[in-house]
Amino acid sequence: MTRRARLLDAALEASVVGSFSRVGYDVRRRLDHWEPLTPRPGATALVTGATSGIGLAVAIGLARLGFAVRFVGRHEDRARRARERIVAASANSDVDYVLADLTELASVREAAAWVNSRVGRLDVLVHNAGAITPTRTLSGAGVEVTVAAQLLGPFLLTRELDGVLSRGDPGRVVTVSSGGLYTQRFDLEALEDDRGEYDGVAQYARVKRAQVVLTREWARRFDPARVVAHAMHPGWVDTPGMREALPGFSRVMGPWLRPPDQGADTVLWLASSSVARASSGDLWHDRRRRHEHAVPWTRSRDPLGDQVNLWEWCRARVE
Ligand SMILES: NC(=O)c1ccc[n+]([C@@H]2O[C@H](COP(=O)([O-])OP(=O)(O)OC[C@H]3O[C@@H](n4cnc5c(N)ncnc54)[C@H](OP(=O)(O)O)[C@@H]3O)[C@@H](O)[C@H]2O)c1
Repeated sequence: MTRRARLLDAALEASVVGSFSRVGYDVRRRLDHWEPLTPRPGATALVTGATSGIGLAVAIGLARLGFAVRFVGRHEDRARRARERIVAASANSDVDYVLADLTELASVREAAAWVNSRVGRLDVLVHNAGAITPTRTLSGAGVEVTVAAQLLGPFLLTRELDGVLSRGDPGRVVTVSSGGLYTQRFDLEALEDDRGEYDGVAQYARVKRAQVVLTREWARRFDPARVVAHAMHPGWVDTPGMREALPGFSRVMGPWLRPPDQGADTVLWLASSSVARASSGDLWHDRRRRHEHAVPWTRSRDPLGDQVNLWEWCRARVE
């Protein structure tokens, strides 16, 4: 990357709005490090939450790159429609789905069994499904659903798919976090603290921070010759989820929000680029590594301790 490109990228990053909005994408894609995505015919990917928004755009993008696409949907009609859209937009008919609710561990296990029985090798696993839940809601096992769907679900799914992922070259785990993570420090206790008033946006941001911590721990535990793990944040993207969760923000920022394919771009790049094959454990946005902290007070005194504690915490809840 040239010095000029680096300076421009850093200026966007510092402005936040410039970086997260479609301006960031439109400027960066003209910089010198931006190359066409690499096709991967013969590779297989599994995407969660591919019935809508960013996940649908990811699934379409992967199918266009030649991947066999498997995805997790929650409802038969929405999943069937999504499959039709992915096939029509990509002219790739190697697309199939399994129904699962990621808040329920039994459902995650069933989805993993479906994948394991059909796929000899899983090259890419995209943890994309997610939402902001406005009122405190518990899963069948009594876990707050933001934590259940976006932390425990991905933890268990990755664990159950470890064997097929390890046959990738290496297998890649990509987690769609959020720039909201910059507002929260990692706080394991707060994740399941049910005292006091519930704030869905803060809980979402805590989980998005925890996803990045988990990604680092996956990177530490996996042999990088077998599996690598990446987290990314997509910026502000115009999706049904965004419009429902943050209607005011969505209205005001409307013209500046990214279309879903821009939100999907870094996932597709991480799924296909040789750069992402050779590293593990980082946070990415617009195809570049990003700092995990924007303000000093979100920093931890013991990042490794956080990783290990989170991993143990997840393990104890899925076993
Ligand atoms: N939009 C943004 O600006 C933005 C910014 C930062 C990060 N993100 C992240 O991007 C990801 C996708 O969000 P989006 O904006 O594309 O939202 P979206 O349009 O609402 O899509 C969310 C997807 O997740 C699925 N999903 C949600 N909960 C699930 C569960 N318990 N089990 C299985 N599937 C579930 C939904 O399935 P159904 O179709 O069944 O509802 C849907 O396919 C999320 O992780 C979100 O946190 C988005």
